[in-house]
Amino acid sequence: MTDIARLRDFVAGTARLVASPTTESELLAALEPRLRELVACDDWLPNAYAVTAGDRYRQYLLYADPLERFSVVSFVWGPGQGTPVHDHRVWGLVGVLRGEELSVSYARQPDGRLHAGLPERLRAGQTAAVSPQIGDIHAISNGLADRSSISIHVYGGNIGRIRRAVYDPDTGAAKDFISGYSNDSVPNLWPDRTNA
Ligand SMILES: [Fe+2]
Repeated sequence: MTDIARLRDFVAGTARLVASPTTESELLAALEPRLRELVACDDWLPNAYAVTAGDRYRQYLLYADPLERFSVVSFVWGPGQGTPVHDHRVWGLVGVLRGEELSVSYARQPDGRLHAGLPERLRAGQTAAVSPQIGDIHAISNGLADRSSISIHVYGGNIGRIRRAVYDPDTGAAKDFISGYSNDSVPNLWPDRTNA
């Protein structure tokens, strides 16, 4: 199996999992190996969803569940690019497809400020989880100075439409944002055809 069929199978597997009643931790435990399998082979992401932009990282929607129970997004980081400190409000799994990422988690202190944990380096093929239950505030950046990195994220909602927050870690002050997506069209998961 090659190419877009990997993404199609991941979407179908995720749809089955979110349709069956389970706890968040059971869902993440079942989904994580599937995401790891998806990012183990870098032969399926169409180039249009792997393109860097000059000034800012890109977030390309690959699939949104029609009932907004989950979404799959490719994040593309150019050299030096990264997110502000932000939260998600839903569970999320990150899998690095290409290159490396640096992830810093933040914990809220009694005085309201955010304390940064040690940077974690995620390499191609590795995964990480976020959620309001297990720690939801982090910042991610490209771990490589000389080339782009790409990670595939799956979230427990339509992440581009969720009102969430970016933070000033020094003060803990939150600012609402809705991220949207960088693209106007999504990949065709069923590209095969036979001409008559
Ligand atoms: Fe994030």
